[in-house]
Amino acid sequence: MSSKPFLNVLAGRKTAVPPVWMMRQAGRYLPEYMRVRGQAGSFLNLCYNPELAAEVTLQPIRRFGFDAAIIFSDILVIPHALGQELAFKEGEGPVLAPINDGAGIAGLETNGFLERLSPVFEALERVSSALGDETALIGFCGAPWTVATYMVGGRGSSDQKAARMMAYQNEEDFSRLMDILVDASIAYLTAQVKAGAEAVQVFDSWAGNLPEPEFEKWCTEPMRLIREGLAENCPEVPVIGFPRAAGEKYLPYVQRSGVSAVSLDSSMSTRWAAEHLQPLVPVQGNLDPLLVVSGGRAMEREVRRIRDDLSGGGHIFNLGHGLVPETPPEHVARVIEILRESV
Ligand code: CP3
Repeated sequence: MSSKPFLNVLAGRKTAVPPVWMMRQAGRYLPEYMRVRGQAGSFLNLCYNPELAAEVTLQPIRRFGFDAAIIFSDILVIPHALGQELAFKEGEGPVLAPINDGAGIAGLETNGFLERLSPVFEALERVSSALGDETALIGFCGAPWTVATYMVGGRGSSDQKAARMMAYQNEEDFSRLMDILVDASIAYLTAQVKAGAEAVQVFDSWAGNLPEPEFEKWCTEPMRLIREGLAENCPEVPVIGFPRAAGEKYLPYVQRSGVSAVSLDSSMSTRWAAEHLQPLVPVQGNLDPLLVVSGGRAMEREVRRIRDDLSGGGHIFNLGHGLVPETPPEHVARVIEILRESV
């Protein structure tokens, strides 16, 4: 039995109330985050400054008392550490110099990759020693498919066209890129665990647009390989998968990838998840982030419904995607209050 409810649920134990954390819990909706980001000068500087990254990781823990902290970083530090040019443009999101052929892939710098991510490990060490004994520390990376959609397309898109076209037209090179990302993810997550992460989450935010055979090949199988590689290095660490918008493909994903838990997007039926997924693994989720913007009775009703629908099995309360910048912090506090008054 751990003193950390989040780890207890991942280990298959019951807790009186579901532990709670929220994706993007550190971010622009918090005035204290905006102050530190201003001090860092840019988002990437903040990611690579261990002291400030640790500080913004801890801000939502101090303010709300979440059951878990997630290390402040971004999924795109992997391509950046592999030598791909990356900038975060205000109002535009990430912009990368696209890599979409064999020459670009051959040019990726796998040597020295982990050393370039050492500020993240130092931030984890700092957070780990600052956290109380009831709060768990989560490490993370982007899933190879989702990271590849940014690497190949050079920016976010609603259809991931560039990566899907490359996977169809030039599978040999695309597959090589995916192999590099699987290996990088295993090495990166292993180093995060050594630096203090007690669980890891793999974000496959763009899993939803793939037809079933491609989903199996580019989402489920890489997750299985990462799970397996990580298990060799750190056998105990739980791995949470997040194949966002995968619909009914959540079930084969859980069955075949071997994840320890799965995070549900807001479109997933909680009753379906209770029936099909919870008998296999604990689930995380899945309040609509826009309900936390709106607050009020609509939000409160949904918090209770999700909690009740998933109360028969392992459940970590979370959102179906990240908190958005216009979220009033008081609404976040209210979600936690409702969950904890339910004992
Ligand atoms: O609190 C946490 O959840 C930890 C930190 C975290 C960030 N990004 C910080 C961030 C995590 C876990 C991520 C994951 C991430 N990053 C994903 C997967 C989850 C998801 O949201 O689907 C993806 C696809 C990215 C890539 C990314 N980073 C995009 C598309 C953007 C721009 C959109 C936006 O919200 O601005 C980012 C920037 C980013 N990552 C911010 C934060 C706090 C905002 C940057 C800022 O402060 O200006």
